[in-house]
Amino acid sequence: MTKIRCQKLIICPILFFIILLFFMSNAVSQTARIVAHRGASKDAPENTIAAFNLAWKQNADAIEGDFFLTKDGHIVCTHDKSTKRFNKVDLVVKDSTLAELQKLDVGSWHDKKFAGTIMPTIADVFATVPKGKIIYVEIKCGVEIIESLMAEIKKSKLKLDQIVVICFDENVIAKIKKVEPRLVANWLLKFELDSNQKLSPSVESAIKTLKSIKANGIGTSHENVNKAMVTQIISAGFDYHAWTVDEPKVARQFAKWGAKSITTNVPAVVRKGVGTSK
Ligand code: G3P
Ligand code: CA
Repeated sequence: MTKIRCQKLIICPILFFIILLFFMSNAVSQTARIVAHRGASKDAPENTIAAFNLAWKQNADAIEGDFFLTKDGHIVCTHDKSTKRFNKVDLVVKDSTLAELQKLDVGSWHDKKFAGTIMPTIADVFATVPKGKIIYVEIKCGVEIIESLMAEIKKSKLKLDQIVVICFDENVIAKIKKVEPRLVANWLLKFELDSNQKLSPSVESAIKTLKSIKANGIGTSHENVNKAMVTQIISAGFDYHAWTVDEPKVARQFAKWGAKSITTNVPAVVRKGVGTSK
């Protein structure tokens, strides 16, 4: 009898500790925001209202969209410089008017059921963002878009903390932070390996750029990134974000390393793998 009680006394704390560890490791992965890349872009045509609405249905914390300035000063949501990937008509976005661009079907290429889908404006996309959710605005052109972007943000119902500006061009991030320091702005980068398997740029050089442009953080391709690099970036005082991760196992790993967000084409799949909504 005494022996059994003694065994219980030993096993119980061990069991408790194992359960605690399980919940702690899950809690770490829950802190990463799930961002729907170009909307729920596996299941609906990228950068369309259908894809963004589907992302919200799939319980994304945020959506990501790509934005260009048109010839007549509107901001449209599309990834490429021209329309040829989605439509037989090849229009260069910056040399076209909103009316010309919105004549094109940008849904059928993905699936016939999306026929008639038009290229949305940034105002259309902002309007889909529910209270408490976030939009990552990727600027695909240069600083010329910033004045119109600020005007669109003012016109929208969104609070500044619902918007994250992202861009590969460091000049755009530097200017955004100058114009509206309260806006979160992250520099985008892909770490490459050169012919000697050396990282390019180095993490030190990336951090130097982040400091000089006053960025809040960095968003990188998940390729060629390891735990030490993420730790180094976070220790330097910057947020780390990963794109584009469709594999739940990889997403979980980045979340554990401390990534603030994980951008994915399949928000429902990654949500399942990473944990509950933020
Ligand atoms: O979230 C950043 C990522 O979207 C950058 O790459 O080509 O998909 O715009 P891309
Ligand atoms: Ca993008």
